[in-house]
Amino acid sequence: MLNKKVEEAINAQINAEMWSAYLYLSMAAYCHGNGQPGMANWFEIQFREEQDHAKILFNYVVSRGGVVTLRPIDAVPTTWDSVLAVFENTLAHEQKVTSLINDLFALTTQENDYATQSMLKWFIDEQVEEEENAQTIIDNLKMIKDNGYGLYMLDKELGTRTYSTPSPLAKGE
Ligand code: FEO
Repeated sequence: MLNKKVEEAINAQINAEMWSAYLYLSMAAYCHGNGQPGMANWFEIQFREEQDHAKILFNYVVSRGGVVTLRPIDAVPTTWDSVLAVFENTLAHEQKVTSLINDLFALTTQENDYATQSMLKWFIDEQVEEEENAQTIIDNLKMIKDNGYGLYMLDKELGTRTYSTPSPLAKGE
């Protein structure tokens, strides 16, 4: 049986993860339009990962006999001033998501919901990685500045990113 307050908060987080997916798909479109297919690839994988995050939470609610409530996804930005601005937006967004996960974890502490806490530990670790990944690319872009060759090489590198199924979904879905 899933605690109702926790159920509501997880449903809100499902919506936040779907919004994140939508945001990153929009960023992929921006990068394609900007002639950076490697960066677009990086965001397309980000898009898939965010859908996975939503699905992990969805599966958890279902497994606890809870009710999944899917809500409308708000509009996302469609343009940025530069690729650096895109990745700075990514980092700021991931920091916001980290605070949402932390709030959710705090709620499970308040509600003595240890099963949900255990499930959320994967997300806490994932957020460390998400913030680090965005920060690394920002650092690279700041080093490169407007150097065309540097941008070309970074785009090539980000184009090699591949998708892998996250462990909570690899188990049984
Ligand atoms: Fe679902 Fe990028 O955190």
